[in-house]
Amino acid sequence: MTAGLPTIPDLIHPERLKKFVQQTAENHPVSLAILSVDGKPVSTSDVGLPPTVELLLDSDLIRRGLELRRPDTILRHPSTPLYAAPLFCQETAIGLLLLRFRDAGADTASRGQEERESRQIRDHLQDLLTAGYELLNLSAEIVRSYEELALLYDLSIKLSAQSDLDRICAIVADEVQSILPAKNLAILLADAKTEMLRSQTAVGREGHRHPPFQLEPGRGIAGRVAQSGQPLIICDVGQDPGFVPVGYPITSLLCVPMTLGRKTMGIINVSDKLDGKEFTTYELKLIMAIAAEAAVALENARLFSEVKDLFLSSVKSLVMAIDAKDPYTHLHSLRVSEVSAILADEIGLSALEVEQIKLAALLHDIGKIGVPERVLLKPDKLTAPEWEIMKQHPLHSVHILEQVKQFSHLVKWVRHEHEHYNGMGYPDQLKGNTIPLPSRIIAVADAYDALTSDRYYRKGRSEEKAVQVLRKDSGIQFDPEVIRAFVSAYQKGRFKGLPA
Ligand SMILES: [Fe+2]
Ligand SMILES: [Fe+2]
Repeated sequence: MTAGLPTIPDLIHPERLKKFVQQTAENHPVSLAILSVDGKPVSTSDVGLPPTVELLLDSDLIRRGLELRRPDTILRHPSTPLYAAPLFCQETAIGLLLLRFRDAGADTASRGQEERESRQIRDHLQDLLTAGYELLNLSAEIVRSYEELALLYDLSIKLSAQSDLDRICAIVADEVQSILPAKNLAILLADAKTEMLRSQTAVGREGHRHPPFQLEPGRGIAGRVAQSGQPLIICDVGQDPGFVPVGYPITSLLCVPMTLGRKTMGIINVSDKLDGKEFTTYELKLIMAIAAEAAVALENARLFSEVKDLFLSSVKSLVMAIDAKDPYTHLHSLRVSEVSAILADEIGLSALEVEQIKLAALLHDIGKIGVPERVLLKPDKLTAPEWEIMKQHPLHSVHILEQVKQFSHLVKWVRHEHEHYNGMGYPDQLKGNTIPLPSRIIAVADAYDALTSDRYYRKGRSEEKAVQVLRKDSGIQFDPEVIRAFVSAYQKGRFKGLPA
């Protein structure tokens, strides 16, 4: 179907139309032709009519017939038994039925009969066209529903693995932009406590990023939509007394809440379609379906983040309780965890890797719980047998972490945190890059904290001195790559503000 109105062949398959024309010519004393709206023959019966059609193409009857606006009108040629009836689709003429009776009836009764037959044939053809239109709409509806379902299915797959708010908003923004090209798109997230709406993503044409903005609860059109939970289409926001400018020009706006039950998680704001047209209810419906998927993903991410926070705070309190046994190692694990995260980031590892290394570093000395206090807290130098006991702590850590499924990927990293780059460390005397990178990172962070912290027997060194010591041991105890990252982070002042 071309854009706009369907043509006769769109509504009735050409083979079906041909059959109709043939059967009509067999069952009635007529030759017939079906013309398109521009007067061109679409289908004609075999006998009689084509020459007539050719002759009459410019005729007044055809012109007038095509101009008819009333479906029930039938015109008769003044001198020939030729009838013309317009064919309609949704109250618009899309063609013309021409009938030529083979034997012209002279009297009024014959004319009446011709007209009845003409109407009967026209009605039959019109029914076929109407049924064709319904079928066409139905199949378009089925295709559209299928496309909508496919789109939502793809979106739910993309969102299902996401627990990161930025990523979720980026996926939703991509999806909205691909199905509804507009000048601006903003995704606002509602703060769970204050209900403040903050723009997580605000993009203009060709991906240009707008500065972030926020709206207090109930302010602006988005605030209103967030509170009511009802979407809005506004043709001219300038006419809306509640509109609050957000830093870029807007005329028309489609504003859809991302709700879960009665809770509004955020808002999808699309403004000014690229084609300049108004937003349609169909587009609103599509964006609402996307918003529903997005709301589920946002809620999952929130739950995930709550569980993660709870988990991390339990781990932190456990580790701090162990560190607290020794006043000189108080907050040691917390600081090693922070420094390790900075080093991993400086090296260029991904956010997920940084987070995992941070957790491993937090747990790196958990095995010290298995070291007797007389050894752990001994103020003097350890004897050789005591040192052997102390060196067991990475293995105790392994033993503890192995019990927790969620820590299984950290076990190796913690086991090797006391290996030396030159192979002289413990417990397995691994060398160089055979030591996992996270262990090499934790080793540097651990040494930095040990050097700068007070001990029973000495004051902690200054940061500058500690950096010198670490640099001297680059390639011996420590991985040169990690030391380079360390020096770079130190020079940028990234170790300021560590827990003290
Ligand atoms: Fe350790
Ligand atoms: Fe340590």
